[in-house]
Formats: sequence, structure tokens, C-alpha cells
Amino acid sequence: MSDTILATERLVKRFGGVTAADNVSVSLRRGELRCLIGPNGAGKSTLFALLCGIYLPDSGSVRLNGNDVTSLQAFQRVRRGLGLTFQTNRTYHALSVRQNLETALGAPRNDRPEGAKSRYQYALERFGLDRDLDRPARELPHHRLQWLEIAMALASGPDILLLDEPTAGMSPDETLQTARVLKHLNREGLTIVVVEHDIAFVREAAQVVTVLHQGRIFAEGSVTEITEHQDVRRIYLGRA
Ligand SMILES: Nc1ncnc2c1ncn2[C@@H]1O[C@H](COP(=O)(O)OP(=O)(O)OP(=O)(O)O)[C@@H](O)[C@H]1O
Ligand SMILES: [Mg+2]
Repeated sequence: MSDTILATERLVKRFGGVTAADNVSVSLRRGELRCLIGPNGAGKSTLFALLCGIYLPDSGSVRLNGNDVTSLQAFQRVRRGLGLTFQTNRTYHALSVRQNLETALGAPRNDRPEGAKSRYQYALERFGLDRDLDRPARELPHHRLQWLEIAMALASGPDILLLDEPTAGMSPDETLQTARVLKHLNREGLTIVVVEHDIAFVREAAQVVTVLHQGRIFAEGSVTEITEHQDVRRIYLGRA
């Protein structure tokens, strides 16, 4: 198996006059935990959607596990090992926690990688979802709905998990708990890519950070390199 699990080459996506992804070439190593950061409108969600197959690019390519998946839709990429959560929560509020998980378990991959089932079980337990299986999802507080969505993404047995702002709206403590669970899942073999605004999360979890700005890759490096990068500090971290 190749060391690269997911890679893009010169991806371009335009919306009218806006180039939301401008020649983005990014490469993810199997087993890494990567954070994608950048200010509002930098193109994070666009890149995320291009990686998932929610958007198809105007030009450029995406490779997953060594195969060209540029023209494949999201569900086809999920079958090939991608797990996804979105910036807006997509759990079914009228269904119980168990039923939500069952919708996600409905289509597991034929060739679930080793450890996938135990990673899913671990997330259920650490997020305390196993205690609430028969509760309607609408009764869960916001952060636990986010956790349910992560567990649902793990149900299909992905070898790479993509998350768009999984800690949005969480308290600092909930954010830290989320980071710790994701770090553990990563140590157990899952490759993880997180779009994230919360710098506390990035400091806790990231091994490699990619900074996007105006649709382009602006900087890439370790957490220390990025947080000490003068231009990054000036433009991104200092914006709050
Ligand atoms: N569906 C769309 N139609 C038109 N313009 C879009 C669309 N999606 C994104 N854009 C534009 O593309 C640019 C990048 O947006 P994107 O949502 O990818 O940024 P982001 O980094 O995820 O921002 P945020 O931090 O607010 O989530 C922005 O200028 C945005 O207005
Ligand atoms: Mg976004």
C-alpha cells in the first residue's frame, strides 16, 4: 500500500467570479492527523467538498488509495474508504440514536479495514452514546449530536475520516474531549483530516497543519511551525 492515502493535483473550483480552490495540490500521508485552517472564505469547505466528491472540480484531480476518484460521487468515495461529517449537523433528529447509527451502518464497506469495528465501538463508548441508544436524537445537547455524527461516519469503516468543523459551537472542555478521542482513533490507525477554526483544538490534535488563504495553500508545517509563522500569525491567528 502506498504511503499517500489522499492527494489532489492542481484542483480548481470556481463559483462565478470567485476561485474558491485555486490550483490546490495537497497530499496526505496514511496515518496522519491533519488540520486545515484559514479565515472565513479561505476555501476550506470547498476543498473539503472536492475531497469528498460533493463538488466536482473545474480542473485537476483527486486520488484516494492510489485510484483516481475525480469523477466519483461522495457515496462512491465512501465505499472506497472515506468517512465524512459536515459543517452543518446531518443527524436525523426524529430518530433515536440507535436508528441514526443504523442508517449509517446500513452500507458498510465490503472490505472494512482491520480495526474499523473497534474504532467505532471506542467512539460510541467514549462519547457516551452507548448509554443513550433509545433516546431521540433531538434530546441530545448540541455537542453530543456532533459526536453522534462522528460515530455515524465511523460506522462504514473508513480508513480516512474528513471532518468539517466538528467542534463548532462546543465548549472548550467538549472541544478538548473531541480532540482527545480523535487523537486516540488516529493512533489506532485512522487517517484524519479536520477543517477547524479552534486553535486550541489544532494545538491539541494536529500533527501537520495546512493553511488556506484565498483558495490557495498559504503555508504547511507542524503546529509549532505554523503558530510561529509570522505571516500566518499576522493574517490568521491574530484575526480574532
Ligand atoms: N456554493 C457556492 N456558491 C457560490 N460561492 C461559493 C459557494 N461555496 C463557496 N463559495 C465562495 O467560495 C469562497 C470559499 O468559501 P468556503 O465556504 O470554501 O470557505 P471556508 O474557508 O469554508 O469559510 P468558513 O470559514 O466561513 O466556513 C468564498 O468566497 C465563498 O463565498
Ligand atoms: Mg467552511
